[in-house]
Amino acid sequence: MATFQDGLLKGKNAFVAGASSGINLQIATRLAQAGAAVTVLSRSPDKIEAAAAGIRATGANCIGIPQDVRDHEGVGEAFAKSVAAHGPIDIIVSGAAGNFVAPFNGISYNGFRAVIDIDLVGCYNVMKQGFPHLRTPGASVITISAPQAIHPYPMQAHVNAAKAGADMLVKTLAVEWGPLGVRVNSIIPGPIADTEGMARLAPNPEAMAKSAKSTPMQRLGTKDEVADLALFLCSDAAAYITGAIIPCDGGLCLLGAGRVGADR
Ligand code: COA
Ligand code: NAP
Repeated sequence: MATFQDGLLKGKNAFVAGASSGINLQIATRLAQAGAAVTVLSRSPDKIEAAAAGIRATGANCIGIPQDVRDHEGVGEAFAKSVAAHGPIDIIVSGAAGNFVAPFNGISYNGFRAVIDIDLVGCYNVMKQGFPHLRTPGASVITISAPQAIHPYPMQAHVNAAKAGADMLVKTLAVEWGPLGVRVNSIIPGPIADTEGMARLAPNPEAMAKSAKSTPMQRLGTKDEVADLALFLCSDAAAYITGAIIPCDGGLCLLGAGRVGADR
């Protein structure tokens, strides 16, 4: 990837929500490696400062902002801080998410609301508060979805609903914002190695191996593979792609969720 990414995003500013760890941190790091100035945001002040410091240590320009994406006004303040530090924004990645494994009958009102508020309303907050700060034409917005947006996975009613809603938001905004010079796309990662998401969904080695074998490519994906797709989507190499919901999943989304009923 070195020759593809070198300088690809020079002069661009990126804002990555939910980027203190995992897939989104790898995306933020990749955008910084490609020359973008990056703002990373998540709830934990310690985690987000550590993430920003790690990116700065590579020589890139990066600030970290502690903020909960559920706080509509707070997200607006975060964008204002990003613009004050780096200038107008060219790239937004909305990837903050929460998940736990439970049957619908075991998900309380607060539990359902927590996931909808982070994954769907949080996405709305990032889009809504970010839009006025976008440099157009040419801006690119990406959300991080999940296979749950396509197939009804048991024990994931809250995530299924939230991610499907967020992907429909992406398609709607692609239609509304296309004439305004903003592209909006979604990435669906499959089971990705060394992530909190997979630690929750497959909490032991047997479950992890089963997840790997559940994909046509018979393996887990890597954070780098998702980051490379994000880099492509927010670069001018993808200038005619908008409203696309693109799996990076070893073919998993070609298959169904594969079982009936809940485990508990
Ligand atoms: N099973 C059932 N309900 C659960 C649960 C579980 N494993 N974990 C949390 N909940 C419920 C809580 O009991 C609470 O409901 P209640 O008030 O009726 O008891 C509700 O969810 C909210 O929990 P709380 O811990 O207060 O929420 P939070 O806002 O601090 O955290 C979560 C949000 C629950 C999504 C938390 O898991 C989180 O912060 N996740 C971020 C990291 C992550 O999930 N990474 C993977 C991304 S794919
Ligand atoms: P992760 O490391 O837990 O990443 C989630 C990030 O979101 C963290 O930085 C977390 O930081 C932040 N966050 C959580 N709640 C937030 C809130 N309310 N406000 C602001 N930030 C918040 O998990 P991951 O597995 O890499 O997942 C990243 C994305 O990929 C998610 O959108 C997930 O749905 C998607 N995905 C993952 C997989 C997988 O295999 N892992 C598969 C499909 C889709 P704080 O705790 O500091 O807030």
